[in-house]
Amino acid sequence: MNVSAKTEDFAPKAPAAIPDGVYAETVLSVEHYTDRLFRFRMTRPAGYRFRSGEFAMIGLMVGEKPIYRAYSIASPSWDEELEFFSIKVPDGPLTSHLQKIKPGDTVLMRKKPTGTLVLDALTPGKRLYMFSTGTGIAPFASLIRDPETYEKFEEVILTHTCREVAELKYGFDLMEEIRNHEFLAEIVGDKLKHYPTVTREDYPFQGRITDLMESGKLYTDLGVPPLDPAIDRGMICGSSAMLKDTKELLEKAGLTEGANNKPAEFVIERAFVG
Ligand code: A2P
Repeated sequence: MNVSAKTEDFAPKAPAAIPDGVYAETVLSVEHYTDRLFRFRMTRPAGYRFRSGEFAMIGLMVGEKPIYRAYSIASPSWDEELEFFSIKVPDGPLTSHLQKIKPGDTVLMRKKPTGTLVLDALTPGKRLYMFSTGTGIAPFASLIRDPETYEKFEEVILTHTCREVAELKYGFDLMEEIRNHEFLAEIVGDKLKHYPTVTREDYPFQGRITDLMESGKLYTDLGVPPLDPAIDRGMICGSSAMLKDTKELLEKAGLTEGANNKPAEFVIERAFVG
């Protein structure tokens, strides 16, 4: 038997040459939620640092060349693995391939994470709202699992609006994970409130988050006063239209937009699709 030939047959599927500034990581698990959404976890490079809420450029070799898209890192900064929550676009240059990954496959990641949905970009406050639609929940999946969020805020409200009920499952799984987690359960306690709503199916909580803010139903349902710039802070992640409309409502309530170099009362980031 020719042992060396056999070894070559089973060589890992990593691209022959990894470009400079790029990590090649191994997929550990994949979970499909609907025909539009899935989550995957992969190895975290030794020494890779990021702040909870940031995004990275994730890629695959498609033919001879790598294709990258921006992905919020859904796992918290302390996690040994990296998690991502992705849409599946049938003709998407990256997601049409990414949705087929399996444990053991190689995913590329550029070395530098970045982003504005970070605690550092907000001034101190008491209540932190995280407004998300669709895969826009990803950066908040990171932040709600980071103890620092609960050191900085007394109350954290995660709103997640999707077209259909099945698309809310990732959010419910996160809440369950936190409730059962060996150290997060105690740190989070009853500080985190999850407010899921649906727009295109019957559900007890129905409607766009912007409509629920305008009517005041969001605040009544949660038992909190309307937005107050002295107390409330916000982070928004969704489609461009959702960002624009939610931002307008926060500004109307007197909150101003911040950035890494100029912390203020709210920050926004587009939920990336590719
Ligand atoms: P709707 O069903 O009324 O369009 P999408 O998958 O298109 O990004 O939408 C995700 C969720 O975001 C849907 O529930 C959608 O509601 C909602 N949405 C879309 N546009 C806006 C907007 N401008 N403001 C608030 N919510 C929005």
